[in-house]
Amino acid sequence: MKKTLTIFTVLGVLLFMGCGDGEKKNTDPYEKSTPTEQTKVVSSVPASQRVDLTNKGIGPIKNVELGETIDMEMAAKGEEVYKMNCTACHKVDKKFIGPAPKGILERRTPEWVMNMILNPDVMTKDDPLAHDLLLEFNGSPMANQQMSEEQARQMLEYFRTL
Ligand code: HEC
Repeated sequence: MKKTLTIFTVLGVLLFMGCGDGEKKNTDPYEKSTPTEQTKVVSSVPASQRVDLTNKGIGPIKNVELGETIDMEMAAKGEEVYKMNCTACHKVDKKFIGPAPKGILERRTPEWVMNMILNPDVMTKDDPLAHDLLLEFNGSPMANQQMSEEQARQMLEYFRTL
């Protein structure tokens, strides 16, 4: 009888420790359920429509100054480059193989857009927004078209006209 009691006590203590551990986990800020809920809220907006005007992305472009008015000459060059290299997958104002660039600067920073053009492989792997875009577009990747920084800048100016 005494032995059984001891076993029960040991079991009880173990159980108690087990529960204690569980509670400890819940108070750990990294284990709280709130971040998961937050992630859910964020990901309920498709990546293509998500607005993120602070993220500059990953790549060679660290800072872009946009002029107050659109440089129409630069935009015209950008349109040419875009038509040659991008229209196989992008339509100006409709979702196609990739998202439409119309209004993109209301959703993204200029740096992010240029880094996405120049460095799409790293972006879709390591930038959270670009990564989610790749998922939204069923894993069909944004192509690296080997554009120069100048060409990417011209297309950015063109996107401002859309
Ligand atoms: C082979 C198809 C393909 C080509 C060619 C292509 N893209 Fe993309 N692009 C995509 C896809 C698909 C995505 C969505 C992200 C992903 O799936 O990787 C994307 C995403 C983008 C984005 C991000 C859009 C957003 O709303 O955040 C930009 C900017 C972009 N592409 C610009 C260009 C430009 C400029 C060119 C031409 C130099 C180009 N793309 C050529 C397929 C392509």
